[in-house]
Amino acid sequence: MRKRLDSLSVLVLNLLAFLLSVVSGAESDSCPSTLVSTFRKGIIDISVGLSSATVSMESDTGLGNFRYLQNSIDDGDFFNGSGLRDLSAHAGTHVDSPGHFINEAYHAKKGVHQLDLDILNGPAVVVEVPDNTNITAAALEALAIPPGAVRVLFKTLNTKKKLMTKTKFEPTYTAVTKDGAEWIVAHPNIRLVGIDYLSIAHYADLIGPHIVLLSEEIIPLEGLVLEEVEPGLYTLHCLPLKLVDSDGAPTRCILMQ
Ligand SMILES: *[C@@H]1O[C@H](CO)[C@@H](O)[C@H](O)[C@H]1NC(C)=O
Ligand SMILES: *[C@@H]1O[C@H](CO)[C@@H](O)[C@H](O)[C@H]1NC(C)=O
Repeated sequence: MRKRLDSLSVLVLNLLAFLLSVVSGAESDSCPSTLVSTFRKGIIDISVGLSSATVSMESDTGLGNFRYLQNSIDDGDFFNGSGLRDLSAHAGTHVDSPGHFINEAYHAKKGVHQLDLDILNGPAVVVEVPDNTNITAAALEALAIPPGAVRVLFKTLNTKKKLMTKTKFEPTYTAVTKDGAEWIVAHPNIRLVGIDYLSIAHYADLIGPHIVLLSEEIIPLEGLVLEEVEPGLYTLHCLPLKLVDSDGAPTRCILMQ
């Protein structure tokens, strides 16, 4: 009896919703397009374009010709179809999984396909790091990251230098030091940290900060383009390629205002 009443009320609600949609649709055709343009303006793409000239770790010449035509109309095929070869899973804007630096995690198949989409999507704070420092514990302490922040993106001197959009790799980039990584894991609400160059760890110690962060399953989000982004609060959306068991994956990321 109860069940029947429930399905009856669902029917009534659906009918009401339908009637409402008819009424509001008839009243204003301008409303939907206004909504769409408002949403569009609110999106900032913070991913780098992947091309042969995109900066790549320790390379002077970028990613190189990783895309080629497997099928080509010029060669008599019915369609053009590109293939990818020799493309690092850590190319451009990307995430790391624990297996990137922790071998047991790699063998335990803690790959990018298992990264928590609830961490990769949600409220995020963009903080500006002063030009004269790497992301050390002292620098982090001074940054006034809102307590409770889960996703923190660091906008650094790298952005001023436009490093993500220059082909030649720059080893002096700003990033997290080992004591900075220790500060981050001592604030267990933080689950994701983003940086505006290819590695979350500074070049002087690539291993230390990665191991500290990945041991606590904090997601490093690397290769962000933050030129258009003012410090502040946003909603982050990242959907990495679901590369099964991989230690890394390229990802498209956006911020919404
Ligand atoms: C297919 O690819 C070839 C080679 O790059 C190009 O010349 C041609 O314009 C492409 N055709 C279409 C329909 O995109
Ligand atoms: C950050 O560390 C790198 C070494 O990884 C160094 O070259 C660079 O000068 C440091 N940046 C600052 C602002 O201290």
